[in-house]
Amino acid sequence: MDSEDIYYCYPVFRPPSEGNSLLIQLTEGCTFRCNFCMSNLRKHFLIRDMDDVKRDMEIARKHYGPRVKKIFFLDGNAMVTPTEKLLEVTQHAKKLFPYLERCGVYAHAKDILKKSDDQLKSLSKAGLKIAYVGFETGHDELLKQIKKHATKQDFIEAASKLYRANITLSATFINGIGGAGNPELSEEHAKESADLVNKICPDDDRTWYIAFLTLIVPQGTEIYTQKVKGEFKEMNQGEILQELKHFIENIEFSNKRANCIFRSNHASNYLPIKGVLDRDRDKILSVIDYGLNHQEALRPEYYRAL
Ligand SMILES: C[S@@+](CC[C@H](N)C(=O)[O-])C[C@H]1O[C@@H](n2cnc3c(N)ncnc32)[C@H](O)[C@@H]1O
Ligand code: SF4
Repeated sequence: MDSEDIYYCYPVFRPPSEGNSLLIQLTEGCTFRCNFCMSNLRKHFLIRDMDDVKRDMEIARKHYGPRVKKIFFLDGNAMVTPTEKLLEVTQHAKKLFPYLERCGVYAHAKDILKKSDDQLKSLSKAGLKIAYVGFETGHDELLKQIKKHATKQDFIEAASKLYRANITLSATFINGIGGAGNPELSEEHAKESADLVNKICPDDDRTWYIAFLTLIVPQGTEIYTQKVKGEFKEMNQGEILQELKHFIENIEFSNKRANCIFRSNHASNYLPIKGVLDRDRDKILSVIDYGLNHQEALRPEYYRAL
């Protein structure tokens, strides 16, 4: 590797919306091991040396100039980094890139809960402005099954801590995570997830994000082994859309100024859906109904990806 190259430990994990951001490898892998996720399959978790991380940002400054607007600190749960180190790299980023609008990280709910309100506020002040948190479901039994190591209540508390610190929440759920053959579980997953989203709706008009990905079973994960053994079967397209429909039907915010950007337009999804909850509920439901009645409009299996 040339010493003027920015270091990356491949494959890197970043949200699709950070595709145009400067990616900085702050951590490698993830400290958790959810049964569906490949973030830590080929990596041992580590927090990189701060001088190395800062050097990468300095190289980026030479390559891209001072006008970088967004930085995403890799990898699967960089929020686990001790606050003083996160502050150090965020402040260094601000110094190098005066036009910087935000830094972002992936965060497990427990990483947020371990930080105090004051720590989160100081991170926000320094420039950490968005956290991408995997909820996956609001169904506690299912959360245990997928080894999320968090509960619905943890998500509620983590969301309010982010709001208090003025860090934007972007939460993801997984359509089809309960598998096929149990329609009651699918409906409960949808309803509990909607209830979670209803409960975390802030009472102001700030922007927050909820996304639904659709389960992909990656080789090497625990869920893949379960699939091979015949213990887990993926839902079909109709079941996936029906589950999403149940979720949307159960969304109801008492705050009518809520500005919740909903997306289910990831490469893993069969049907691209976008809207503002709960304002666009009927529009979103009609798109789902269209998908349920027009299989030809759905993304073919071989085009789906994570
Ligand atoms: C790289 S993870 C980082 C999230 C963060 N570490 C957490 O768990 O809170 C990003 C998200 O991608 C989604 N994801 C990961 N593996 C997936 C899979 N096999 N199928 C569908 N979605 C998946 C999950 O919603 C997960 O939370
Ligand atoms: S979903 Fe998040 S917490 Fe779970 S293994 Fe993947 S990156 Fe880690």
